[in-house]
Amino acid sequence: MSRRFPKGFLWGCATAAYQIEGAPAADGKGPSIWDRYAHTPGLMANGDHGDIACDHYHRFREDIALMAHLGMRAYRFSLSWARILPEGTGRINAAGVQFYSDLIDELLAHGIEPMVTLFHWDLPAALDDKGGWLNRDSADWFAEYARVAFGAYDGRVKKWITINEPWVVSDGGYLRGTIAPGHRNRFEAPIASHNLMRAHGAAVKAYRETGRHEIGLAVNIEPKYATSATPEDMAAAHRASAYMNEQYLDPALLGRYPLPLREIFGPAWPDWPEADFDLIRQPLDFLGINYYTRAVVRHDAADDLLRAMPVRQPGALYTETNWEVFPQGLTDTLLWIRQRYGDIPLYITENGAAFPDPPAATHGQVHDPQRVDYLRTHLLALHEAIAKGVDVRGYMAWSFMDNLEWSLGYAKRFGLVHVNFETQARTPKDSARFYSQVIASHGECL
Ligand code: NOJ
Repeated sequence: MSRRFPKGFLWGCATAAYQIEGAPAADGKGPSIWDRYAHTPGLMANGDHGDIACDHYHRFREDIALMAHLGMRAYRFSLSWARILPEGTGRINAAGVQFYSDLIDELLAHGIEPMVTLFHWDLPAALDDKGGWLNRDSADWFAEYARVAFGAYDGRVKKWITINEPWVVSDGGYLRGTIAPGHRNRFEAPIASHNLMRAHGAAVKAYRETGRHEIGLAVNIEPKYATSATPEDMAAAHRASAYMNEQYLDPALLGRYPLPLREIFGPAWPDWPEADFDLIRQPLDFLGINYYTRAVVRHDAADDLLRAMPVRQPGALYTETNWEVFPQGLTDTLLWIRQRYGDIPLYITENGAAFPDPPAATHGQVHDPQRVDYLRTHLLALHEAIAKGVDVRGYMAWSFMDNLEWSLGYAKRFGLVHVNFETQARTPKDSARFYSQVIASHGECL
């Protein structure tokens, strides 16, 4: 079977603003909830924070030159809302708008297509002070910000993503407190999810008024497999998937929530106004899929939310973030999406792995055979889904370079390019060179 990918398949890599930019107060930027969270003692591994990160704010030109050198055709990055609107709404910060304008021009000058995420978790702190995603007005705030971004860049940006991984924002930010804003409240999580989805819908609606290109949503999908065929384990896997996967795709694409959510949240699950679903369910041009791992689950009454627990797989390889390497899950995910939601164009908007790389680059080299393997096997799994007719149009490796893995800090390295955080030196790892060959051969070398 030929390993060639379809003509025009978009090869690229991805990052997000807070994870790479640094410069948290430069040129009039307002604070975000990540500036606050990362500076709250005890919340970040190793006391890390994003004040400098990869210093990409000052080094974006050399980073883009390196992307071009590696042969990237596309670059997915996010805008920091608080650079553009320091208070979240109202006053526009021209210098912040200019920063991304320069970045986009630099990409285009190098023949790299920008794919822009509007929200990758760094909510302006001023909006959090008004309740953040718990406030129903958040959909209007987001649409206002989105309009500013569309107005500034839509001539040059042809692919837009509204929100990145709403599940992580709700589960990590409002239920478990593992990411900003760090709340732990079962009654808040569904409200945050719902408002994120309303915000997504409001931004797509705004895009249709002015936008000329394509817009979609990026979700993390983690397929759930039952550890046995007993009805209990099967039901546990079903609940786990409803919570993590269908909770976002069902309202966006089908205009309703999956039934198990009522059972999962019990009294914390509100009755939503019917009209909200008209807003949430907007026609999309594509879906972005972030795929990293799967979970095998068993029924366990001790888990008071899902009554499901992950089962570690003996003999399987796990990454540094403790995620099982399971390429087949990517094929399964893509086939499942087509079967449940129909034939919508898809992009893999993230896929990658943290492995313990050697501590520093030696002689300009970083050998990362496990990441090379991860990439190869996942690209083959992706190819299999394409061969079965799934309409996947591009692949963005996570991540272009090592960066701040949120509350896990800088120790978890996902980059194709190694970053020495003391000197800011960039060194392409073996995986970057491998990926360059994949791009140059359209996958033939896999
Ligand atoms: C999901 C997120 O979108 C990204 O910000 C994160 O760094 C990667 N996955 C790895 O966890």
